[in-house]
Amino acid sequence: MCKIINLDINGYNYKLPVVSGTFYEKAINISKLRENTGLITFDPGLKNTGLSKSSISFIDGEKGILLYRGYPIEQIINKCSFVETSYLLLNGELPNSKQLESFSNQIKEFHYMNQEIYQIFDKIPDFYHPMGILSSFTCILTAFIKNKYLKEQDMYLHLLAKLPILAALTYRKKVGLPPSHVDKNLSYTSNILKMFFSFPKKYYETNPIITDALDKLLILHADHEQNCSTTTVRLLSSAHAGLFSSVSAGISALWGRLHGGANQAVIEMLENILKSGGNIQKWIEKAKNKKDPFRLMGFGHRIYKNFDPRARIIKKVAQKIISQLDMDNPILKLANELEEVAIQDSYFKEKKLYPNIDFYSGIIYQAIGIPKDMFTVMFALGRLPGWMAHWKEMRLNRDPIGRPRQIYIGYKKRNIVECVDEGI
Ligand code: ACO
Repeated sequence: MCKIINLDINGYNYKLPVVSGTFYEKAINISKLRENTGLITFDPGLKNTGLSKSSISFIDGEKGILLYRGYPIEQIINKCSFVETSYLLLNGELPNSKQLESFSNQIKEFHYMNQEIYQIFDKIPDFYHPMGILSSFTCILTAFIKNKYLKEQDMYLHLLAKLPILAALTYRKKVGLPPSHVDKNLSYTSNILKMFFSFPKKYYETNPIITDALDKLLILHADHEQNCSTTTVRLLSSAHAGLFSSVSAGISALWGRLHGGANQAVIEMLENILKSGGNIQKWIEKAKNKKDPFRLMGFGHRIYKNFDPRARIIKKVAQKIISQLDMDNPILKLANELEEVAIQDSYFKEKKLYPNIDFYSGIIYQAIGIPKDMFTVMFALGRLPGWMAHWKEMRLNRDPIGRPRQIYIGYKKRNIVECVDEGI
């Protein structure tokens, strides 16, 4: 295996070390390139840049493989709960039954919210987007949790307990319901549903079909190596920013429509296609037209140049929940048809554009009763353990502060010319 790359620049030879990973993926270490040659690398979108070494998740985008701490996503989804997956991502190993019970109970201990948070919540205008609320309140939490006495593990437990409460509060404020509290006898995911949908003074009956579908969605979103929001969290961690503010920044990054916001955009697109008569070919042509800014939402991925393995699983979960709940869902039917046409189209084939996780997730959220502007909030609840694991890993790795360089294309140095004010 080659450990050194020879680089010839203007007749000089430079030896660059090669870094390699578990699956023999290789990277040229260019950290001394500028020092030795005066050159930097230029990589807009960081498409070809390895930012750090990591052992949390692994993606083979060509083969459509996703591993969490070495375990294939297809096994995790069938054998683990979201809480177990969170433990795995944060601690590196799956918990035994005693560790799992203790972890679940510890999360329940933090399932409360300070009174002041409810008061601030009341002042938020109804039109503010739920992702803005989630991001702001995740940061505000630091003001009400006494950091001085907080152990590191407790910070993770606080966020696992409190993010669902914030999400549920946002939903209930929108629909005019008072806050609903957790039931200590319910599972983590059943409690999310209870906090969203229970009615005052009425017994909340859990629906195992819905709980299972939501738990699977949370697991599928739990980590995805160096994506945009996770890189945001890692960059903040590299500056030694706190966990809550780093996660808050991750939520803001996820909000973007090219990232987590795509799940809302997919449903809006499918509804528009239906409303305009369901002519799939017309929309495919629109997506292919370079003069038209429209893109087929839920298609394409920076890393997957094959099927996103999460999309395969999510499609089955969507079909199962729609049939088990006996729903007639024209959006699911349309999504299936659109996928069929797109993956056969030469444009999508050549550019290796396949459905991503967001293509079917919105259909499940809709079946559960989550409104469209809350879809990305649900994604954030799932991504939380991944963000925290990356924040922790950065601190443990002692990675240096993230600070890229640039190619400056502005004015050359110039002087301010004194202006003579001519008056009116
Ligand atoms: N519809 C039509 N054309 C597309 C699409 C799409 N969904 N996605 C990519 N392309 C085309 C681009 O126009 C570009 O064409 P060109 O080479 O002729 O200029 C080519 O495919 C490559 O696209 P890039 O944008 O350069 O690829 P990149 O890796 O930067 O972007 C992204 C990936 C952002 C996901 C892109 O595919 C996209 O915008 N998809 C739609 C939004 C979406 O579904 N986002 C969710 C991603 S998953 C997640 O974040 C959870």
